[in-house]
Amino acid sequence: MECAINGSPYQFTLSPATPLSELLRSHGLLSVKQGCCVGECGACTVLVDGVAVDSCLYLAAWIDGKQIRTLEGEAVGGKLSRVQEAFTQSGAVQCGFCTPGLVMATTALLAKPHVKPFTVQEIRRGLAGNLCRCTGYQMIVETVQACEEEQ
Ligand code: FES
Ligand code: FES
Repeated sequence: MECAINGSPYQFTLSPATPLSELLRSHGLLSVKQGCCVGECGACTVLVDGVAVDSCLYLAAWIDGKQIRTLEGEAVGGKLSRVQEAFTQSGAVQCGFCTPGLVMATTALLAKPHVKPFTVQEIRRGLAGNLCRCTGYQMIVETVQACEEEQ
C-alpha cells in the first residue's frame, strides 16, 4: 500500500484492522491524539485528500493512493500555517489536547467552498465533531473568524 503523508511518500504492509491513528502515531506523528478512540472527540482528526476524518475510525488500509495531512505537516519551512498561527495568537489553546484536531478540522472547514463569512452557527456546526473541555468554544469560533478575515 502506498500513500503520501505530509507530502512524503510512504509504503506500508499492515494488518487490515489497523486504525489510521495507530499507524500515524507509530510513525512518530504524535499530534494525532488518542482520545475516545470511538469517533466522539475529534482529537485524532487528520485530513485524507483534504477531508477531515476521525483517524481512530478510519482504517489505515483505506489510505492507499491518498494524501494524508497531520498537524506536523502544516508548518512549512518552520513557518506556522495561518490556522496554526491564529490558534497560537488567540485564547483557543489551553491544555492543548484538542488543538491538533481542531487545527486540522478548521483547515478543512476554511478550504470548503462557502459563502463568506461563515456564520457563528456554521462554524459551530463545522467543528461539531471536535470536543474541547477547556475553552467553552467561543475563542475557537473567534479564531476561525480571524482566519477568515485574513483570507
Ligand atoms: S480519538 Fe478519534 S474521535 Fe476521539
Ligand atoms: S484546550 Fe483543553 S481540551 Fe481543548
